[in-house]
Amino acid sequence: PETITIQELANRMSERAVDVIRLLMKQGAMHKITDVIDADTAQLVAEEMGHTVKRVAESDVEEGLFDTPDEDADLQSRPPVVTIMGHVDHGKTSLLDAIRQANVVSGEAGGITQHIGAYQVTAPNGNPVTFIDTPGHAAFTAMRARGAKVTDIVVLVVAADDGVMPQTIEAINHARAAGVPLIVAINKVDKPDAKPERVRTELLQYEVQVESMGGETLEVEVSAKQKLNLDKLLELIALQAEVLDLKANADRVAEGTVIEARLDKGRGPVATMLVQRGTLRVGDIIVAGTQWGRVRALLDDKGVTRQEAGPSFPVEILGFSGTPEAGDRVAVVESEARAREITEYRERMKRDKLAARGGSARGSLSDMMS
Ligand code: GTP
Ligand code: MG
Repeated sequence: PETITIQELANRMSERAVDVIRLLMKQGAMHKITDVIDADTAQLVAEEMGHTVKRVAESDVEEGLFDTPDEDADLQSRPPVVTIMGHVDHGKTSLLDAIRQANVVSGEAGGITQHIGAYQVTAPNGNPVTFIDTPGHAAFTAMRARGAKVTDIVVLVVAADDGVMPQTIEAINHARAAGVPLIVAINKVDKPDAKPERVRTELLQYEVQVESMGGETLEVEVSAKQKLNLDKLLELIALQAEVLDLKANADRVAEGTVIEARLDKGRGPVATMLVQRGTLRVGDIIVAGTQWGRVRALLDDKGVTRQEAGPSFPVEILGFSGTPEAGDRVAVVESEARAREITEYRERMKRDKLAARGGSARGSLSDMMS
């Protein structure tokens, strides 16, 4: 059932919480400012204090934001979104790095990926492929789970010298839960103690049967270090993408997911978004979780500014008023008023939920102290 704290109810009426408590007391109920009351009681209180009450259902506020259907005729093919997953240190970033011919690994703290990066590269067949790199550290399991929701294909990196490890299994399970096909990349085959055959056998235990073992899962032996078979991997991705026949309507307002977001000292909130449908343009008004903004600039993975970004394109967005969270879905809305309505509503929901769990008093205290 819907609930609200006394403090929040008072705030929304611009009344003092103590007056709300007094009124409730007159009706025979003793309350503290942090107590949660149900919506019906709150409505009675508000009306008693001379306010008009408009109860808003979630379905009204969020109506039509996501997943409105497209006509088949409007669908065009789009690049595959590929997430690189695997155990810590099995070479995910190195592999992606080798593919990009850039050098991300050396710039990272301790060589551990701290965030999800998103990049686009061109496959040998000339078609773009979008890659998402996920951290392999156990602490980032939740973020990796989110990676699977935006992805069409998972490249499972398994180091040939280390074999199947806990996070390899986790990645297999994520891909399976998301219904996403796997491509197995057996990495580090340059190492003297590499045992690619053992990796294939170990994978059987988890019901991943690669082609050379008589199964249907695509596989390739690679070395990120020696840049071995990278084209082969891209070819397999292109092949898998063809089978999936990925399509989206580019000619509509954009929809997508925040891959990562941070507060930049100079530029303010910066969010990397994967556009999943439609085309995002500079000037669009967007909402993501409890944040909204007007797109001030769009940058691609090389830092080049763009006027727009279509399906499967990862872009950095400047213009959010606050920092959204990785995994937040992004929608374009028609006006700032609507953006405010949606984000304020979500903010209230979030606060009410926290309050219902008893976290509100502590939360607001520490907020004031910090
Ligand atoms: P996390 O993001 O921390 O999960 O690690 P990761 O999977 O991205 O691994 P990363 O690319 O950071 O590589 C880990 C270590 O393995 C580094 O020291 C790399 O140089 C090394 N490495 C990666 N690929 C290869 C390879 O093909 N051969 C050899 N010999 N070493 C490799
Ligand atoms: Mg990494």
